[in-house]
Amino acid sequence: MKQRKVDPYISELRAGQRVHGVYGVQRKQLRTFRDEQKGYYLDLQLGDRSGSLPARVWDDASSVKDSFDEGDVVRVKATVQTYRGQNQLVIDEIQALDEESVPAERFIAASPRPVEQMQEELWQLIESVEDRFLAQLLTEMFGDPAFYRKYTLAPAAKKVHHNYLHGLLEHSLEVARLASRGAPDSGNLNTDLLMAGGILHDVGKIEELACVGSIQYTEAGRLLGHVVLGFRMVTARLQNIDGFPQSQARHLQHLLLSHHGKHDYGAPVLPQTREAVVLHQADMFSGKASQAAITTEKARKKGSSWSGYDQLLGRSMWIPDNCSE
Ligand SMILES: [Fe+2]
Ligand SMILES: [Fe+2]
Repeated sequence: MKQRKVDPYISELRAGQRVHGVYGVQRKQLRTFRDEQKGYYLDLQLGDRSGSLPARVWDDASSVKDSFDEGDVVRVKATVQTYRGQNQLVIDEIQALDEESVPAERFIAASPRPVEQMQEELWQLIESVEDRFLAQLLTEMFGDPAFYRKYTLAPAAKKVHHNYLHGLLEHSLEVARLASRGAPDSGNLNTDLLMAGGILHDVGKIEELACVGSIQYTEAGRLLGHVVLGFRMVTARLQNIDGFPQSQARHLQHLLLSHHGKHDYGAPVLPQTREAVVLHQADMFSGKASQAAITTEKARKKGSSWSGYDQLLGRSMWIPDNCSE
């Protein structure tokens, strides 16, 4: 008898296949059947790092619907059926799994850069900071194993740039490098402050985003946002360091609060020091460059010469590799 593959990835599923698998719940909606007499069904989007598929629970949806949430990982028994030319999973059994038993790498894609290499670079940048108080702040924060684990695993976004595991680390390194070393006339800038600001500017994302079965906003993330969450985290650490100069602390706090650059982009204050202006530009540079890379790569893999419309960039991208002329 043909052996069934254990826990197949979404991209491996074929029409007609019987599936026992583990997937992340990206969307969950209870809907009414067109014939309202029939009651409700569950409309789901299930995914892993290879892709995602729509899924349906036709029977007994009202009683199943509260047994798991968006962002959970579920074990399903299902069949792959084709509807209007697209595969979907029709689920017989669905059960939420314990968060601890789920390796995030199975469900969420990871940074193209090896994480060990980025961790090494992070420590090199931290060690390059000469200011004793900023060095102490960074060493204490990153020396905390729970914090370090979260920071080096977190994505930088749910949908846009660096939206994969270790994306926060990759993005923060880019911003720290660009801001402290890439600015014109950088000799006159406080490069230690820019290094610390670059590394810490998005630190609130470790509380804003959760990544179990997929990347989701947490309640604190939705209600407070990463700018405020990061400010709160860094402020708590600053208060524990005896003698930290107040003006330096305030300047670092200003970098965190102003890094989005505009009120419309969620910055409570505009960048009002040279370092804050440089940090904001470095953040934009890293974000836009990553977004252009992700959008271009997606279209390149599909073989298209143009990408779809990219909301963040406000345009479609041309893919020279895929042009025949
Ligand atoms: Fe940010
Ligand atoms: Fe950022």
